[in-house]
Amino acid sequence: MSFRLNRAQRSEEIEPNQTLCDYLHDEVGTTSVKKGCDTGECGACTVLLDDMPVASCLVLAPQIDGCDLVTAEGLGTKSAPHPVQKAFVDKDAVQCGYCIPGMIVTLSWIFEHAPEASDAEIKRLMSGNLCRCTGYLPQIEALKAARTRT
Ligand code: FES
Ligand code: FES
Repeated sequence: MSFRLNRAQRSEEIEPNQTLCDYLHDEVGTTSVKKGCDTGECGACTVLLDDMPVASCLVLAPQIDGCDLVTAEGLGTKSAPHPVQKAFVDKDAVQCGYCIPGMIVTLSWIFEHAPEASDAEIKRLMSGNLCRCTGYLPQIEALKAARTRT
């Protein structure tokens, strides 16, 4: 399979019976891609697939041939974080952290594609990402803070 991962072109042999979540986490080492439910419910495994947030546990790895993938690792770096990543730190929007990479992937998409989204729309758009710790409000505040800084 040929695909782009975090802006790097790759050509790999991929086992046909594994999910994209397992492939990215276990074989590529993109540890931001977490397996929570493995049934498309929790969003911990969210990645951008051709610029759309998807649950990677619901995608078979061979389906990524020709696709463009971005994980939380590809959104920013420690020295140049994505505005949403920086705002999560500034707003203390992280507790245990398990949901956070997937949440940041989704909120970065909202940041880029729905900059005028209301609180209600933000809640609807992030409804596929479950968080057991925060109650979601710090993460919504972080998104709004990121908007005001750009
Ligand atoms: S592990 Fe994919 S949605 Fe939960
Ligand atoms: S910070 Fe713990 S599940 Fe979200």
